[in-house]
Amino acid sequence: MFRKEVYKRRRAELHRLLAAAMPEGKAGIAVFIGNAEAPQNYRGNDYRFRQESSFLYYWGIDEPCFAAVLDIDSGKECIYGDDVEIGDIIWMGPQPSVASKAESVGVESSAPYAEFDRAVASAVSKGRHVHFLPASRYYNVLKTSSLTGCPPESVRKVATLQDGELHASLELTSAVISMRLVKEECEIEEIDKACEIGYLMHTEARRSCKPGVCEQEIVGRMEGVTISRGWGVSFATILSQHGETLHNHRHDGIITPGKLLLVDAGAESNTHYASDFTRTVPCGGKFSPVQRDIYDIVVACNDLAYDMAAPGVSYRDVHLAVAARMLEGLKALDLVRGDVQDMVTEGIAGMFMPHGLGHNMGIDVHDMEDLGEDLVGYDPGQRRSSQLGLGSLRMARVLKPGHVVTDEPGIYFIPALIAKWKAEGTGKDFINYGKLEKGYLDFGGIRLEDDLLITPDGCRRLGSRRLPIYPDEVEAAMAAE
Ligand code: GLY
Ligand code: MN
Repeated sequence: MFRKEVYKRRRAELHRLLAAAMPEGKAGIAVFIGNAEAPQNYRGNDYRFRQESSFLYYWGIDEPCFAAVLDIDSGKECIYGDDVEIGDIIWMGPQPSVASKAESVGVESSAPYAEFDRAVASAVSKGRHVHFLPASRYYNVLKTSSLTGCPPESVRKVATLQDGELHASLELTSAVISMRLVKEECEIEEIDKACEIGYLMHTEARRSCKPGVCEQEIVGRMEGVTISRGWGVSFATILSQHGETLHNHRHDGIITPGKLLLVDAGAESNTHYASDFTRTVPCGGKFSPVQRDIYDIVVACNDLAYDMAAPGVSYRDVHLAVAARMLEGLKALDLVRGDVQDMVTEGIAGMFMPHGLGHNMGIDVHDMEDLGEDLVGYDPGQRRSSQLGLGSLRMARVLKPGHVVTDEPGIYFIPALIAKWKAEGTGKDFINYGKLEKGYLDFGGIRLEDDLLITPDGCRRLGSRRLPIYPDEVEAAMAAE
């Protein structure tokens, strides 16, 4: 938890933004519903608790079954939660009071959780706007629906409340996004911490990548690093010798020389800030010439994004420049042919990189995507492409100091996609299908990911040191381990 002044300042700014966005005296209330415990099977055997991220950002309390109301018209705020009683104390030990927890984040007023329901019901009965965020967990969807009367299927729909319909509030969602997108100094310190843990995780993975070892064992060793130093992983670890499957969560392979091991994994600091790194290493400790050729292109793309990322530059343009760099490299290998800019326009890069260059990162590894990918990642006036690859770009905005984005180009040879495009005739004027089919169908995939903080004059890589990335350093590190 940060100092109480951090939360007070954030709520004051949110209040200012909301009051400015809505008619005076008719704004209503903004409600925040923290997460509840989620049972794995019976109540009492719950998944590890993780607080709802916007609740954490404004109200700081990292415990289940809290809620909060900010009255936009009056500026009053209240936190709702239940004090423990003897039955809880027997199982959980003594706990600070709700009032003292509220005080620790600078909120003077607190009340039992049931009062939250009454506060919302009272606002609804008076015809006041009830602004809520699009909930991600089903418990919160149902709770929001039952409190406000909004049908569950509309709880995740975001639109202006001034239209009189019941759904999540565009005004609240936009204000929250605008604040959480630009990271404060104390948040950057936490992301740096998560990156330090991420560095150690990936070091463990690279050291453990020895012929005959099961992928699952490497995952276990890596995840032990995060649990012993931070909260845990920031998303389910991707670790596979089938890196061509973008999010491959199967870990039953045995490390086999000649293959590439793709490891995409990150940590959450104890305050829940994320890191997200990807490295791809040769399983026998040395890249083959064919692997190295492709690897060199991906490193060049990663470095290009780092060189370009700066205030005033749109990340969409960085993605497109990376696509051009990738196609130039593939052209030099005669895997594609023709004019590079024509290929970029035609979306040919999507065959090799069917995902976007990066996403926002913060309290969530894909920061705020629960609030709406386009609202978070696209400036007003920017439209998401329908092309494969560019269409999956989650962060297209013009960059500003304080943005934190991932830089994660990749090249993959996906047999099913190659077969589909070839059968359709897609890209037939550019793609050398003969060469792809002859030498690359069992290649796998390479992705290389760093985390960037946009600074006033460019960007810096988060964490105090960069994981080995250039092929010689990767091979040297593996030879020494
Ligand atoms: N690290 C997983 C992803 O960015 O989707
Ligand atoms: Mn990522």
